[in-house]
Formats: sequence, structure tokens, C-alpha cells
Amino acid sequence: MKMGDKEINRKLFENHDLILTVRNLDIKLNLNGELVSVIDKIDFDLWTGSTLGIVGESGSGKSILCKALLQILPLGAKVSGKVNLYLPDGEILNLLSLKPQEMISVRGKKIGFLFQEPTTSMNPVLKCGKQVFDSLVDRLRRNKNIGMQRVTELFELVGLSDKEKIANSYPHELSGGMLQRVAIAAALAGEPSILIADEPTTALDASLQRKILQTLSQLQKKFDLTLILVSHDLNIISNWTNNLLVMYSGRIVEYGQTAKIISSPAHPYTQALLETERSFEQKGLPKSIPGALPAISNKPSGCQFHPRCYYTDALCQVDEPDILVAGHGGGTRCYYPLTKLIEN
Ligand SMILES: Nc1ncnc2c1ncn2[C@@H]1O[C@H](COP(=O)(O)OP(=O)(O)OP(=O)(O)O)[C@@H](O)[C@H]1O
Ligand SMILES: [Mg+2]
Repeated sequence: MKMGDKEINRKLFENHDLILTVRNLDIKLNLNGELVSVIDKIDFDLWTGSTLGIVGESGSGKSILCKALLQILPLGAKVSGKVNLYLPDGEILNLLSLKPQEMISVRGKKIGFLFQEPTTSMNPVLKCGKQVFDSLVDRLRRNKNIGMQRVTELFELVGLSDKEKIANSYPHELSGGMLQRVAIAAALAGEPSILIADEPTTALDASLQRKILQTLSQLQKKFDLTLILVSHDLNIISNWTNNLLVMYSGRIVEYGQTAKIISSPAHPYTQALLETERSFEQKGLPKSIPGALPAISNKPSGCQFHPRCYYTDALCQVDEPDILVAGHGGGTRCYYPLTKLIEN
């Protein structure tokens, strides 16, 4: 049975409503005048109030995928497929068909975003209070007093106690943890229903990481937020996400419920990621899989992972299956999955 089939996914997440669907998403970037594929026919569903993790090695396409949802791709990018955003009033927006002007009402307002480095996403010459104020929804921005009151409320919600001082500080005057909290306040100021957090804690130490993730989780419950959480760290993915996409070289190689994938991965790449994480924790061994991700301008035929895969054979060198239903109920793109497949 092929995945991408809504019925299967509905069974997996039957208590939630769909908020976003991605179908056949394909992205090519313009590298020195040549179009190269960075995202290859990606399908996934996002369910209201859930947290979707995206994991994969550096360069696998996680950020480009997130940027495509917001239409902030590098100049010259070619995008095809369908990204439907389901609004509470029943309207469906196909984000890829919106004009730049129409995207302004989506970006920050329906889909908020939070990046790895708040220092690069925030304007260095504007005070933090002003930056959050500028991100407010229109009705709050129209009345300065009410707007500033909302900024203070947002600072409180994200766990910043010295609100006046922070509002009057420039980004460089705050610590990394405080700044990321300001960035969360700015990301929520537009009252989005989806928040994309692309490696939001990678620049922070372990205890700050946990505190920021706890704050995000509390805000998620309070506002019924849907989260997309990109991370290299499988511990974070395992503790903070419900569902998971595993990406390799621009493709989804495995997806499903996080806990099931972590306990019983179906794709050799997911298994390799988990093993390197465990051997790093237990034995201090290097945290990387032997070999390297293929260069985007020189991808191998067949399964992209085959040159590094322990289970590879002649078939994998020339061909790769569509996503198949794995034993954990999600999907995997492998002829020799580590859990048995579910037959139609
Ligand atoms: N602006 C750009 N111009 C050219 N190539 C790019 C650009 N941005 C990303 N790429 C390429 O697209 C591929 C996917 O990049 P992406 O940033 O999405 O990876 P990632 O999974 O987010 O990696 P990381 O974990 O390091 O953040 C990479 O090969 C990268 O080099
Ligand atoms: Mg990235």
C-alpha cells in the first residue's frame, strides 16, 4: 500500500483536524544558473495542536522545506506542488498560489516562525519592545497603548520578568536565552495558529534548551498552537514531538508517530541516526554517520542513502520505492525496511 493516502493518516491521528497538507512539493534552487533539486516530491500532513518534528543531517533540506511553507525561498527558486492551509472558517488557502502581497497576511499571522539564531532574525538597531510591537496583529498595532500592553503581556507569557527593561533593550544587550524568548514573543504577536521553529534552541546550553522548549509547550497548550520543530537532536525530537518526518537528501525517508519510530525505526537511515546518538551518549563516539550526504549537484541514482547503507544491494543502487506503510503504522521509503511492511 502506498502512503500519502489520507485514510491511513486519519487513522493515525483521528482525534485531530488537519491544519496543513503538503502534496508533491518539489523545490529546485538556482545554483550558478543551473536548477538543482533540493526538495523532492514531499507529502505530509499537519494536525491541529500537534507537534511535528523534522530531523535529518545538515543539508537534508529541513530549512528549505520550512521556508517553502512561508515562501521565503532564495531568489530564483522553482517550486511546484500544493500546500493547503485549512483556516478555522473552512476556507482553504493554497499557499503556493498566493501572490507575494497575499502571503503578507499569512506570514507571521497564520504561520509564525522562529529561527535558530535570534541575533540574525532580529533587527539589531530596533529596541526589542518595538520589534514585538511591529509584529502585532493589525488591530493591536492601530492603538499604541493597547499594543504596548499586549507586548508586555507577551513578554510575561514567554517568561520574561523584567519587561520594561527588556522592551527598552537592543538585541545585543540581552543573553541568548532572553533573546530567544523575545523572538518567541515576536513570533506569537501575530497570533499564528502554526509556529515553525527551525532549530530554536541549538545555540543555547542544555538547561536553557529545556526551559525554552517547556515555554513553547506551555504556549502550545494555552493557544492550541500547532508546532513544527526542526532539530538535529533526537532527544529533543523524542521528548517534544508527536509525529516525525525523517529527511535525507531532500526526501522524506520515514514518517509516523515519533515514539513508534524511535522505538522501532523502519528505515536504515533512521536507525543509523538513532545509533549514532546512542553511541555518542553512551561511549562518547563521534555524533555522525560514516560517509556524507550527497552533494545536491551530484546525487546518486536509486536510494539516496544507498552508498552509506549497511543493508544496500543492487536494487537500491538503481531504484527506490514510493513510501510504503511500515510496521509502526507510518511510512518508509526502503525496499528492505527494518520493520515488516503492512500489506494492503
Ligand atoms: N540560499 C541557498 N543557495 C543555494 N543553496 C542552498 C541555499 N540554501 C540552502 N541551500 C542548499 O540546499 C540544501 C538544503 O539546505 P537546508 O538549509 O534546507 O538544509 P538543513 O537540513 O536545514 O541543514 P542544517 O541542519 O544545516 O540547517 C543544502 O544542500 C544547501 O546547501
Ligand atoms: Mg537548517
